[in-house]
Amino acid sequence: MKIQIINGPNLNLLGVREKSIYGDTGFETYLASLRERYANIDVEYYQSNVEGEIINKLHEIGFKYDGVVLNAGAYTHTSVAIADAIAAVNSPVVEVHISNVYKREEFRHTSLLAANCKGVITGFGMDSYRLAIEALLMTK
Ligand code: DQA
Repeated sequence: MKIQIINGPNLNLLGVREKSIYGDTGFETYLASLRERYANIDVEYYQSNVEGEIINKLHEIGFKYDGVVLNAGAYTHTSVAIADAIAAVNSPVVEVHISNVYKREEFRHTSLLAANCKGVITGFGMDSYRLAIEALLMTK
């Protein structure tokens, strides 16, 4: 089984950025623990701050991977183009957020992506990614 994690803008700064919201663990450290836990799954990771690169990655893997865990960061709230890319591919996509976006500013309450995703997981810290993998395993 192959799962692709995609992190969008500013998520390369996890562990450094706004620690009170996003925690103090860098993603690479968390990823190592995920890969250890799911040793039987191929968990690939990609991060980009560029909208078009996220779309290119979805096109590249979205017809061959078993699932995608996507934290599109702020693009979640703005990107029709990423929403269209999710609709275009076959692989199920789970939208994730580290913070509970519904406890935050109003503009974060709207996701342009959610309707095209299998489901949404928000507010469980880094564990949101693990829960998304569990969801993909359950619905497989
Ligand atoms: C986020 C929430 C978004 O609103 C924000 O723009 C991010 C991170 C999260 O993981 O909580 O960059 O997706």
